[in-house]
Amino acid sequence: MSGLKSGPISETKAPHATTKAPRATTNAAHATTRAPHAKTNVAGSQYAPGSLLTVEHLSVADVAEILASATRLERMAAAERARVLVDRTVALLFYESSTRTRTSFELAAKSLGVTTTLVSDKSSSIEKGESLKDTGLTLRALGAEAIILRHSASGAPFLLARVTGLPVLNAGDGMHQHPSQALLDLRTILLRLGLGADAAINEKTLAGVTVVIAGDIRHSRVARSNAMLLPRLGARVVLCGPPELLPEEALGLNANAHPGGSPAIEIERDFDRALRSATVVMMLRIQKERLEGTALNLAEYVERYQLHAARLAALAPRALVMPLVMHPGPIIRGLEITGEVADGPQSAIEDQVGQGLAVRRAVLVRALGGHP
Ligand code: CP
Repeated sequence: MSGLKSGPISETKAPHATTKAPRATTNAAHATTRAPHAKTNVAGSQYAPGSLLTVEHLSVADVAEILASATRLERMAAAERARVLVDRTVALLFYESSTRTRTSFELAAKSLGVTTTLVSDKSSSIEKGESLKDTGLTLRALGAEAIILRHSASGAPFLLARVTGLPVLNAGDGMHQHPSQALLDLRTILLRLGLGADAAINEKTLAGVTVVIAGDIRHSRVARSNAMLLPRLGARVVLCGPPELLPEEALGLNANAHPGGSPAIEIERDFDRALRSATVVMMLRIQKERLEGTALNLAEYVERYQLHAARLAALAPRALVMPLVMHPGPIIRGLEITGEVADGPQSAIEDQVGQGLAVRRAVLVRALGGHP
């Protein structure tokens, strides 16, 4: 189940990426004139400070600072917020389709005064075969001070960060990581559970909270990032799905989150049993585009794992308020979740989209060294 191994990441797998893993040394020197503090390292790595490549690079203190910054920025008057990163330049580089992540990063950047430019694989020289490295160097030469990258290859943001020396924000890489999604999911949980935007973030913030992540875990970068992040704040994470979509190796995603205590991550194949203890249920899309070679019976899957109103009603009376229903999107109504549940009172799906704006402002400020 290579999709669930946390590393090391092969940079040579990135289509369009250079097959070498060039160090950012010569490029970094150039980059320091553009990225205000690109000389020191993040989490002992060679990446520019402010990079957000994986939740594994974030300490609990980092998470606390990002969420506090999101709150400070949210509370600012729009005119003041629009001066925070005025005259700074960020490139959005998207090799895969996106609605939520791309739009919220772009709107977040614009709300801070950033000049943005979008490069998509569908309408750029990437179509002519230009490599990730050359595309990144081109964007840097044109003045980009940070790059937001979505790529189908796990590890591509690491490569881009190395070759450009710029802060890179991972907007989803293959089946690997989607760190800003995990952060916005965390903020959504805190707000919807009533802990508030000013909740103290530490190893016990989510003590007593059970988050069930259900569906196509194997192909999900969202599941991986959440399963790594939430237990470090005290949550119990229960992964739920059939073996084809949830291999046992997933238990190793965050084995050390509760040292000496209860396991950080559990697997429960029975969705109804998992739901009985759930504070939050995160539903995942079946990634049909990544299912090749998987023997999955979709009708059987829907029967066993779809979140529908009758399944929730069976949890009554607790079901009136719990579990909170989340989904990173895009939703496939009628497959992993019914429209009735997605639009129902327990759904936090639109809240998640809104929190994307708040959290992505904060990670942009962190990348560009602004002070909200
Ligand atoms: N959650 C998420 O990544 O959605 P998009 O693919 O629309 O960006």
